[in-house]
Amino acid sequence: MARKFFVGGNWKCNGTSEEVKKIVSTLNGGQVASADVVDVVVSPPFVFLPLVKSLLHSDFHVAAQNCWVKKGGAYTGEISAEMLLNLNIPWVILGHSERRLLLGESNEFVGDKVAYALSKGLKVIACVGETLEQRESGATVEVVAAQTKAIAERISDWTNVVLAYEPVWAIGTGKVATPAQAQEVHCELRKWLQINVSVEVAESIRIIYGGSVNGANCKELAAQPDVDGFLVGGASLKPEFVDIINSAT
Ligand code: G3H
Repeated sequence: MARKFFVGGNWKCNGTSEEVKKIVSTLNGGQVASADVVDVVVSPPFVFLPLVKSLLHSDFHVAAQNCWVKKGGAYTGEISAEMLLNLNIPWVILGHSERRLLLGESNEFVGDKVAYALSKGLKVIACVGETLEQRESGATVEVVAAQTKAIAERISDWTNVVLAYEPVWAIGTGKVATPAQAQEVHCELRKWLQINVSVEVAESIRIIYGGSVNGANCKELAAQPDVDGFLVGGASLKPEFVDIINSAT
């Protein structure tokens, strides 16, 4: 089954309104592959979501970088799934390693967030990935399987999920996974889904790679059979993001 390429740009906690306008203008003006070939989703900080959505070419979509685990209420500083839907924000990134590691989000908490966001109608980019220590101790597959299992135990419909494999040691370090390393883990994730969820989900889900992807290394990674796109951090703020989108073709 052909899986449509997916490229997400995670702007993290970066930008001013002027910088954001510039990034959007570069993207809107770029010669990018057709929306029939690639889904492009950019994820600015919450405060810039309405601005970016209003300026972005309609072929591109926006994602929030997080949302609360349940209905809103007395949760100071949080943004609910309902609020995102109210602003017509279709996507949300959940389980990014920066939140897992810096803010202590457990596998279970991330699983609960994914389930709640999906139940409200959001589409989810769910992130998994191992630390350097876990990789060096040979626990990579075990770690990403446990992270995926916590999601699988809480949802039954994977249609609106994109799985992002982001090895922590590759994020923002310039130390990209080799195409073989990325392919190996993506393949293992697909096998895990085949055994524990279904053959259909394993074959249809987009598994994207994140961690120091740039305009120079994207083509080789994109050529791997189980790499269905990217979640890009630093390079999504630069003009080379257009080249990364075009690695779909
Ligand atoms: O969500 C994106 C990832 O954390 C990758 O970030 O491309 O800056 O390494 P990076």
